Amino acid sequence: MHPFDNLSGSDVMNQFYGSPDQVRLQRKLHERVDWTRNTPGACNPGRFLGTDDPDALGWDFIVETLREDGAFGFRMIPIDQCADIQANLGEHGFRIDFWDVFSADAQEIIPCCGPLIDAGLPEGLSLVTKDELADQAVIAAIQSCMDRNGIVPFSGDMLSGRMCPSSMIAIKDRDEAIVATAYGYFLHNQHSSHASNAWGGLVAVDAAQRGKRLGVLVNALMVSSCVKDLEASRVHELVSEANEPSRRMVQRCGLQPDPTVRSGIATRGKDRFTR
Ligand SMILES: CC(C)(COP(=O)(O)OP(=O)(O)OC[C@H]1O[C@@H](n2cnc3c(N)ncnc32)[C@H](O)[C@@H]1OP(=O)(O)O)[C@@H](O)C(=O)NCCC(=O)NCCS
Repeated sequence: MHPFDNLSGSDVMNQFYGSPDQVRLQRKLHERVDWTRNTPGACNPGRFLGTDDPDALGWDFIVETLREDGAFGFRMIPIDQCADIQANLGEHGFRIDFWDVFSADAQEIIPCCGPLIDAGLPEGLSLVTKDELADQAVIAAIQSCMDRNGIVPFSGDMLSGRMCPSSMIAIKDRDEAIVATAYGYFLHNQHSSHASNAWGGLVAVDAAQRGKRLGVLVNALMVSSCVKDLEASRVHELVSEANEPSRRMVQRCGLQPDPTVRSGIATRGKDRFTR
């Protein structure tokens, strides 16, 4: 059974976050979440609608959605299709930014991340508990931490686990301020060959805490939780070519570059949608 099958979809927190455009897209994703779960070629990139098989989903639909929404996700696209997709989007007045995919099997993640997790948290820092994730103020603080570190957050429903099974890891300091975050979930549906491959991301460490291996720790906790709690057979993360700390962080957790696929966000703006 796919994990989405267990969810009722009711009793939501929502808590959209960001600019009016970002909130509009999150709201639409909420309205269409069943579509992302049940439609061949569709997926849930977390911030807007998306596809992991553009031909199955249909280009007319993709272009029409892009015209309406201004953003659309392309996930796990075979490398030999990326140039054609870029050209096709260009003909319709859109651009696409790609991220490299790093991934590892469950059997590779656990032995690699175990010792990193055993090293423990630095003095004065502690983990946000599962119960605390039900608190909207805590979710707001997590969203704010992501935002100030250049990561466009997901809605409260997604981060708190109300919309789908997920692994939200957050680290707080003595004053209860959130200083580091990471999040994983299944974005591909049961029609996809990536259905049991969890996505991990939204990794943020506050500037004052950087360079102390907190990124490695929060990321190791997140990818391990994807395997142990969500029962993912594989976990992947997306990193831009220019983000050296992030590339090193994910590789330290055992994820290796996958040269066969790339993931991207199509937009009409001139800036990347997120870091
Ligand atoms: C990416 C990020 C989470 C790393 O957090 P961090 O706590 O500073 O990282 P760590 O101390 O755990 O170090 C992780 C790796 O990056 C390396 N690193 C850290 N800062 C670096 C820098 N400025 N330049 C190059 N490498 C760096 C570390 O040496 C380590 O690599 P190693 O294990 O091979 O030695 C943090 O920089 C951040 O929040 N950036 C902004 C948001 C972001 O880009 N998120 C990732 C989106 S994919």
